[in-house]
This record gives sequence, C-alpha cells and structure tokens, in this order.
Amino acid sequence: MSRIRSSVFQKKVVSAADAAALIKNGDRIGFSGFTGSGYPKAVPEALAERVQAATAAGQELRVGVYTGASTAPECDGALAAVGGMFFRMPYQSDPDMRRAINAGTTDYCDIHLSHSGPVVRHGFMGPMDFALVEVTSINEDGELVPSSSVGNNNVWLDEAEKIILEVNAWQSEGLEGMHDIYDAIHRPPGNGPIPLLAPGDRIGRPTLRVDPDKVVAVIETDSPDRNTPFKPLDDDSKAIAANLMDFLHNEVKQGRLPKDLLPLQSGVGNIANAVLAGLLDSDFENLTSYTEVIQDGMVDLIDAGKLTIASATSFSLSPEAATKMNENAAFYRNHIILRPQEISNNPELIRRMGVIACNGMIEADIYGNINSTHIMGSRMQNGIGGSGDFTRNAYISIFVSPSVAKGGDISCLVPMVSHHDHTEHDVMVIITEQGLADLRGLAPRKRAQAIIENCAHPDYRPLLQDYVARAEKAANSHHTPHDLKESLSWHIRMLETGSMKP
Ligand code: COA
Repeated sequence: MSRIRSSVFQKKVVSAADAAALIKNGDRIGFSGFTGSGYPKAVPEALAERVQAATAAGQELRVGVYTGASTAPECDGALAAVGGMFFRMPYQSDPDMRRAINAGTTDYCDIHLSHSGPVVRHGFMGPMDFALVEVTSINEDGELVPSSSVGNNNVWLDEAEKIILEVNAWQSEGLEGMHDIYDAIHRPPGNGPIPLLAPGDRIGRPTLRVDPDKVVAVIETDSPDRNTPFKPLDDDSKAIAANLMDFLHNEVKQGRLPKDLLPLQSGVGNIANAVLAGLLDSDFENLTSYTEVIQDGMVDLIDAGKLTIASATSFSLSPEAATKMNENAAFYRNHIILRPQEISNNPELIRRMGVIACNGMIEADIYGNINSTHIMGSRMQNGIGGSGDFTRNAYISIFVSPSVAKGGDISCLVPMVSHHDHTEHDVMVIITEQGLADLRGLAPRKRAQAIIENCAHPDYRPLLQDYVARAEKAANSHHTPHDLKESLSWHIRMLETGSMKP
C-alpha cells in the first residue's frame, strides 16, 4: 500500500529529476537529516547530476544547504563532490564536504545546533527557498510522519517558500508515534516556558504539519539510512569508560547524584559511544537520557533494561543497529522520543533537568579550555554540533578523549588550545584513559596540575610541567600563567616535524 495516503499529495508525485529541476542557482534549501538519519536520498543526487551538467556547459548551479546536522554520502557527499554548495550550515562530517569547507569553496557557518532553527525563524539568514524533507508517510489528513530524525524539519517546513517531500518506504511504519513535535521558538517577545520537566514527557503531537499549497513535489524512495560503523572498543576507550564510571559512583557516594543518576547526554563519535558501553557493564539501573543522538550504546542499554527512556532528535546508528531499529521500531517507541532539535538541545530544558553532559574533544589545554572542532587550529573536522548547548547548561559537564592522537605524536592535552569552542568556565571534568581531572572549584594553577598529572600521557607530562615552569617565569604571567611565545609551539612543532615531542 502506498505511503502517500492523501489524494492531494498523490497528485504531486514526480521523479527526483523533475523535482531537482525546480531548484535554481543561488537557492537556499533546508534539508532534513541529522547524523546520517532521515536525510533526503534521491533529490540531492539528482541535483548533483544537474550541477555536473551545468558545470560542463559553463553555467553555475550552486545552492545553500541548511540541515539538522551531518547527513550521508548520497546527500552532503554527492553535492560536495561536484562543488554544488556555496553555503552549508550547521554540523557536517562528510569527507568531501570537509574538503570543500577547508579549501574555502563552500562557506561553512558552524553554529550551535539549538540556534540553527531559530536563526532561520528569526529571519537572520534571509528567506529560505525550499525545504527538502524525508518522511515515513503522509497521512490521509495530509500530516507527515517523520522518519529517523526530526532535526530542524518543523522549522524548514514552516519557513520555506516551497517544499519537496521524499516519502521513504524503507523507514519503518513503527516509527509513527515515536516523535513529539512541539514548536518552541518564535520571534521574541512572547516566548513562554517550555512545559517539559522530564525526558519522558510528551508535550507536542506525533506528526509534522505542512501547508499543502507549498508542496511542489513528492518523491517516493525506498533507501536505507547510511551510517558509518563505530570503531571497535579498544583498551583506551574501555579505560575512559571505567574512569567515568568511577567518577559517577563517587558522585552518588558523595550525595551529589541520585543512584539512578540524572538524564545523560552522550556526544557523537567513537569515544562517546564507547562510554555508553561502560554503563552497560555497570551496576547503574533505571537510567534516563536527554540527548541529541541515539547511538548503538543507547540501544544496547534499552535492550538490557537499564535505560528506561531516551529523548533525542535523531538516530546515529551503525548499519546493524539501524536494521534492528527499523525492524523493532514499535517496541523502541515505548522507550525513545524524537523531538525537534530546538527542544532536544534547548538550554532551558538541559539546565532544568540537570543533564550530565559527556562529549568528545580534539584537545584540551592545561586550564580546561576545549577545542572540539579544528585540527591544528585551522582544519575543520566536523563542527561544534550540540556540544556547546549541553556543556554550557549541564549539571555536570564532562569531556572525554584519549590522551594522545596519531600514534602518540600528538598530545591531546596542550598548553593552549589551538582553537576555542568551550571555555574553562563551562568545563567541569576532563577524562582520558590515564585518569580524571575534576576541575570544579579549582583556580587555574591547580587546574593545570590536575590535568597534567591525571590526564596527560606520561610521555608528555614532563614537557607540560616544563611549560608551566616557563609560564610562571614569563614577564607577563599572572592569574593564568602563560608564556605566549611558547604556548603554541607544540602545534608548530607538530606541523614542522610531524610530532609534538621535541
Ligand atoms: N590533534 C589532531 N588530530 C586529532 C586530535 C588532536 N588533538 N585528536 C583527534 N584527532 C583526530 C583523530 O586522529 C581522528 O583522525 P582520523 O579521522 O584521521 O583518524 C579524528 O581526529 C577523529 O578522532 P577520533 O578519536 O576518531 O574521535 P571521535 O570519533 O571520538 O570524535 C570529535 C571526536 C571531537 C571529532 C567529535 O566528538 C566531534 O565532532 N565533536 C564535536 C561535536 C559534538 O561534540 N557533538 C556532540 C553533541 S551531542
């Protein structure tokens, strides 16, 4: 049976090529899609073919793309490979996309995920020409059942002048009822409190609403979400998870956390996923999660009966876990709620619920400042994603990372971060495989000692202590000792010699 149950929408079915032909050079398009889930699968590739043909004919066809977060090879990848984007916002993680951003051929605006919908709603970005949104089905009344992510879809559908819908028969019909769509943010004044008190609360409706007159094309697809598998757990990630478990147990012992903890947020990436595996082996029970993405580790926790409810905006699952989710969506919807990202990442709600935020990082400095985005201060990796939304507003904010990268040539603990995403004011705990630095209540000099002694790799501790000694003697050394001539020499050494070791 067709997934398009409204006769109004059935009449709008066209091919992906015909839909792509509606898009003009310079159009700004709001795509669905968040960490490899729920992105449009046919029109971006058809548009990429048009871009190639236009380029061959000496014409320009380039679009501005706004998403929820990263997408996948058939979406970001296809358009980036042909140079089809003049602008991209927010988070991405595709290799071709990254190349275009770092070459400067695509302008990249890396903003907090909680801001990415509101900036469009508030008119800061100018008009949006198209929304291109994947859905699971269209109901008889014309309401849309979202697919495996919600992201900014509610905003794009409201704000875009024209809408193209992809109805993907691969997405499980069991997803219907998993979503909770609540439009939170309007142009101020007049925004009230969001009535959500706990991760399991439902405050909205299960479907997205759309003005049928704005829908110019509907495409039928049958194509899986394509996520990257996670790296297998190694000794470092197991040690990081064990250090985090020790920390959480101690917080419970000290009476600062209840024994079922507080809602957990777990960031993107391999290490963040590995940390969830640590919870699986722990004795923590009746856990809840208020987070942005549901990774494999969360699904395992639900399966084990340890996680009762997980609230997010999207899945970020390995191919195996995505298949399991698709086959058992009707079961998982008792435990998972997918919301718009302006709700999943909302600072008001994160602060109210007392979320424990745990995110990956590229590097931290000895005072607790964090670089989440730029390799060697200049090369964009992915983007800030939701790490700022959660870190700034968390009850406890934690960053996790191996102490070294690139086989030990790089120390992830450095004198001064080469790019700054989260300041020392927002960062409470840093964890590596070596140990844990609890920075709460510490002045800069004590923070430096906690980070060097507990988190840095033993190969780098003497070098970092040597830096601290020099910084103390520097002419301009005060509250936060730094020797500005020396502080970035670590990164310069790496760029010049391939290692941070002298
Ligand atoms: N210097 C240079 N390169 C470094 C580095 C450092 N200090 N630390 C890590 N890297 C490199 C790794 O070697 C790896 O390179 P490769 O892709 O060539 O193998 C790459 O960065 C990714 O590192 P990895 O260890 O695989 O990290 P991860 O998968 O755990 O992801 C982040 C770490 C920081 C990239 C990821 O967490 C991220 O994008 N964070 C920002 C967004 C975010 O936190 N969102 C969460 C909100 S829900």
